[in-house]
Amino acid sequence: MKPELHIIDHPLVQHKLTLMRCKETSTKSFRQLVQEVSTLLAYEVTRDMPMQTIEIETPLERMQSRVIDGKKVVLASILRAGNGFLDGMLNVLPSARVGHIGLYRDPNTLQAVEYYFKMPQGMEERDVIVLDPMLATGNSAVAAVDRLKQTNPRSLRFVCLVACPEGVKRFHDSHPDVPIYTPAVDRGLNEHGYIVPGLGDAGDRIFGTR
Ligand code: URA
Repeated sequence: MKPELHIIDHPLVQHKLTLMRCKETSTKSFRQLVQEVSTLLAYEVTRDMPMQTIEIETPLERMQSRVIDGKKVVLASILRAGNGFLDGMLNVLPSARVGHIGLYRDPNTLQAVEYYFKMPQGMEERDVIVLDPMLATGNSAVAAVDRLKQTNPRSLRFVCLVACPEGVKRFHDSHPDVPIYTPAVDRGLNEHGYIVPGLGDAGDRIFGTR
């Protein structure tokens, strides 16, 4: 299986990401931008979702028309920065279920440690979109998908704002079956495990905690 890496290079996404990268961008603007970008990313990541044809009735006649197949999509947010994607994605997926995965990065080993996991019922029939703004070392993303696979979802997709070659490799070495959707693959990681040039700490920038 050839791992899929989808670069979302739509001008609107790239423009907004540039604004988010600027260090002068305020928390208010960053939050607004992440919401707008998330809506656009949701549009791209759902492009190949399976569909089914149902029979409906317009005011004029009956017709066959298509809807997304299966149980409601799950947005699986890796806490806490993944939550930044939720409002924007729920704009276009208003019935999606929302799951949470709590992982923290051990500052010494940079390994992901799980402290919370809650998903909806019936995962076997659901398509899961895993959310984490930064694919840095890849440790959290890999751990989250390892854990999600135990619930046997119908499909998994991973979405971030910024990735780096190390994170993409680590992720696809472990999960070659899970496509990555990202607007950017940056140069690499610095000695603290941050993506460079990146946009800083996504959680701090979304929640204004720095
Ligand atoms: N997490 C972040 O928020 N930013 C990075 O650059 C890497 C990990």
